[in-house]
Amino acid sequence: MLVGFKAENHPQQTGARGALDEVDDRGTEPEFVRSLEERFGEPFTLDVAAAPHNAKCDRFYTRADDGLKQSWSGERIWCNPPYSNLGDWLAKAWQEWPTTRGIVMLLPANRVEQKWWQEYVEPFRDRPESPLRVEFLPGRMRFIRPSAVIGPKGDRPPFGCCLLIWDAWGANAIARFMAAEGITT
Ligand SMILES: C[S@@+](CC[C@H](N)C(=O)[O-])C[C@H]1O[C@@H](n2cnc3c(N)ncnc32)[C@H](O)[C@@H]1O
Repeated sequence: MLVGFKAENHPQQTGARGALDEVDDRGTEPEFVRSLEERFGEPFTLDVAAAPHNAKCDRFYTRADDGLKQSWSGERIWCNPPYSNLGDWLAKAWQEWPTTRGIVMLLPANRVEQKWWQEYVEPFRDRPESPLRVEFLPGRMRFIRPSAVIGPKGDRPPFGCCLLIWDAWGANAIARFMAAEGITT
C-alpha cells in the first residue's frame, strides 16, 4: 500500500519549519513547462506546488492551500514539488492519478537510493502495465530562484533531473483504449 509513508529528508533541506524556502522555492523555467504541454498536446490545468511568483498555471495551490490536502481530480497536473518532503508528494500522486487527466512531476534524478524513490517509483516505473514512466533529462535544468545570485549559466543545481509521468494521454492510455475496444495492430 502506498499510504502512511514518511519521507526521510536530507538534513540540508530541512529547516525549523520542516522545509527551507530557499531550497524549496526552485521555479521551473516557463519555457520548459510550455514545451512539455506542446509535446503532450494540451496544457496543464493545475500547478499543485506553487507560489504566486512561480506558478506555471493560472490555477495553483500554495503552501497555505497545501496541495497535498487538495483534490487533483479532473486536472492535468504539473508538479515540481518542494524537495523537503518528496515522499509525501509521491504518495499523493499515486493516490490522485486515477482521477486526474495525467500528472507530470519534476524530480532530482540523483536520489534513486532513497526510500521515497525505492518505495514509490522503482517498483512501478516503466513496466508494461504501469501508468508511471520515468524520463531522465539531459544536462542540468536551469531553475529560477528570486533570492539567488545567478551566474551567466543560470541557477543550475549540481544534479540532473527526471520527469515522472503518470500517463493519461500517452502510450499507456492508447494501449488501454485499444485493448478495451478490442483493437489489434
Ligand atoms: C520547487 S518549487 C516549484 C515552483 C513552481 N510551481 C514551478 O514549477 O516552477 C515548489 C513550490 O511549492 C510550494 N509549496 C511548498 N509546500 C507546499 C504545499 N504543501 N502545497 C503547495 N505548494 C507548496 C513552495 O512554496 C514552492 O513555491
